[in-house]
Amino acid sequence: MRPLSGCGAIVLGLSVGLGLACATRAAEDDALLRDARRLFAPLPKDMATAERPITPALVELGRALFFDPRMSVDGTVSCARCHQPALYGGDALAKSHGNHDRLNARNAPTVLNTALQFKQHWTGNREDVEDQATKALLGAASYGNPSYDVPMARLKAIAGYQPLFRAAFPDASNPITPENWGRAIGAYERTLVSRSRFDEFLEGKRDALSASERAGLRAFIDTGCVTCHNGVGVGGGEFKKFGVVEDYWKATGSQETDEGRALDTKNPEDKFFFKVPILRNVAMTGPYFHDGSVITLEAAVRAMARVQLGAAPSDREVQDIVAFLGSLTGPLPDNFATAPALPAER
Ligand code: HEC
Ligand code: HEC
Repeated sequence: MRPLSGCGAIVLGLSVGLGLACATRAAEDDALLRDARRLFAPLPKDMATAERPITPALVELGRALFFDPRMSVDGTVSCARCHQPALYGGDALAKSHGNHDRLNARNAPTVLNTALQFKQHWTGNREDVEDQATKALLGAASYGNPSYDVPMARLKAIAGYQPLFRAAFPDASNPITPENWGRAIGAYERTLVSRSRFDEFLEGKRDALSASERAGLRAFIDTGCVTCHNGVGVGGGEFKKFGVVEDYWKATGSQETDEGRALDTKNPEDKFFFKVPILRNVAMTGPYFHDGSVITLEAAVRAMARVQLGAAPSDREVQDIVAFLGSLTGPLPDNFATAPALPAER
């Protein structure tokens, strides 16, 4: 329970001054809710779309595949190795390690709510979660398979997967394919929604956020963070340059510079462009940025203000913004908080 605000006293008619202060605060709270509803939206129940529908059978199969390391080249790599439930779908490393401890080029973002985004990966080089999951099978520092034949042969040899694939793809004569691996894991990811107090606030429950969290939301809007971090994910809708006002590495201390999207498109205009990440659960998913160069959320907020906006928020404002970002943390979905039993070999 949060303590009752002083405004409860006005009904007793204790003080005209207090009453006026409360009226002002109520008007500010109304305006904050109005602005927030213009910029953000509450999370949906799941992230299925018309093109990517989900069924319970698809989700059950996808959940088993997500946690199963047997389809990687060295038998140690599942999605959950780098997207760990206890770490809110990240791995708490600056950069992930895959098969044979191979180092990834970038930091692992969370898989929670990720299907909301317009593209996947830091530079958006994966169309959607299905595309991402299929290609992970061949990632040199991920599953490390030389071709799709190898992991598909392994899947076919695990007897326990046969009925799961048949149930998930009832119309397919040969359901075990790389595309269907992606379809099933994608369907599972589309259920990984973590509603938070911020969603309750957007639905009209004003006291779902504390005074500091509301002040932080106000600062997040007024400082200009919302020009990039907006929508249902509080980000995830566009590419922007990292380092608008100043080179990003001056604020992050990054040892190497990553040219971002230009590495994919070979277009110099895309240099240092990255996808604006979603900020849902961001308090739980440090270290921060594409290279995990910044450990604390407070330092990440200061770096963003400096290099994206040329702003230097006060200590109080930074604290409030961090408090607001904390209100974007929701409980882990039940089907992510526990690992499933893996299908038997025979
Ligand atoms: C070895 C560690 C590792 C494994 C295994 C792994 N990932 Fe990732 N994942 C990463 C890294 C690192 C990134 C960021 C890559 C990039 O942007 O260049 C990432 C990005 C993603 C993204 C995009 C998130 C976003 O916000 O853009 C999704 C979704 C995802 N992984 C899901 C999966 C699934 C599903 C699997 C299993 C099929 C998987 N990952 C296996 C490390 C891993
Ligand atoms: C001009 C667009 C833009 C503005 C304005 C902006 N951001 Fe960002 N933000 C980004 C991009 C792009 C990234 C990804 C940077 C990278 O490559 O690591 C990012 C990353 C972040 C991260 C790290 C997320 C993670 O998972 O590692 C946080 C936290 C963040 N922003 C908070 C803020 C705050 C707070 C503000 C306002 C002070 C703000 N941003 C303003 C575009 C922006």
